[in-house]
Amino acid sequence: MSVFTDEIRERAREIIARYPADRSRSALLPLLHLVQAEEGYVSPAGVTFCAEVLGLNKAQVGAVATFYTMYKRKPTGDFLVSVCTNTMCNVLGGQEVYDTLSEHLGVGHDETTADGTITLEHAECLAACDYGPVMTVNYDFFDGVDAATAVGVVDELRAGGRPMPTRGARLCTLKEMAVQLAGFADERDGAVADGGPGEPTLRGLRLAQQHGVSVPGFDPNTPIRSKAEADKAAAEAKAKAEAAKPAPVEASAAPVKGGDGASAKVPTETSPPAPRDAQKAQAAGVAANEPAGDRKPAGDSTGAQERNLNEASASADGATSADANETGAQK
Ligand code: FES
Repeated sequence: MSVFTDEIRERAREIIARYPADRSRSALLPLLHLVQAEEGYVSPAGVTFCAEVLGLNKAQVGAVATFYTMYKRKPTGDFLVSVCTNTMCNVLGGQEVYDTLSEHLGVGHDETTADGTITLEHAECLAACDYGPVMTVNYDFFDGVDAATAVGVVDELRAGGRPMPTRGARLCTLKEMAVQLAGFADERDGAVADGGPGEPTLRGLRLAQQHGVSVPGFDPNTPIRSKAEADKAAAEAKAKAEAAKPAPVEASAAPVKGGDGASAKVPTETSPPAPRDAQKAQAAGVAANEPAGDRKPAGDSTGAQERNLNEASASADGATSADANETGAQK
């Protein structure tokens, strides 16, 4: 029996409904978090589930799931401890924090303690360089850690405690966090208001206010356009740009006498170039290769594949007969 119950399917439908009907594949990222929330990782069954509800094939889902490090390919512990070992944190002691934790827990990168509590990983910049060295537990930040603090955090977690992160809400398990990453609210009473922002972040905000820096005309309620609407807007913008182009200047041509005595025009140095075959070919290519639809990536259609094969075969035939003619002529 599938681990993905009717309740999960209902949640999947809710996620998909957030996106325009012809852009449903955009729901893949939150759906992968949803399946990870069930099993603690993106299992083959999770990949199949996402492919099924989105009408994709498993290779397409797998390509996304293996690209992002937040999607785990094997079971994880309750708490994912990520230690930043990138440049800024490293020079501030991040590598020492990671090495100490690795030795203390007896696990390496992407490995889980035998009790299933902690999965350790090193991370390449957790986007909090101004708080370095940093580590996260289920993506909540512990700023300015040193080896002793980090060991204290993991020991408390293994003992069943819940140390408070420096910023943000109180800790939850990785599966619970995956539900939030899938776009569902943190339902713990008051959890969202637990922690305030850090001082370096507020410093940026204060400087922006002090210098009057703001994002002009940004409306946070701007709706996401459907693909059809976006295509229509792009076509209108293109037509407008075409209409605004200056008309080509008529080139002067020197009248000359043709062989029958009638005057004829010959191109001069200022004559516009004749339309090139390459331009025609490019236009034909653009027309024959429409942007990918929601369910098929470009070049994935059997029509396009057949056309390419026919063209390759025709050009091979042409080359063969040209070779034969050349050989015959040489004889
Ligand atoms: S280098 Fe560690 S958060 Fe950026």
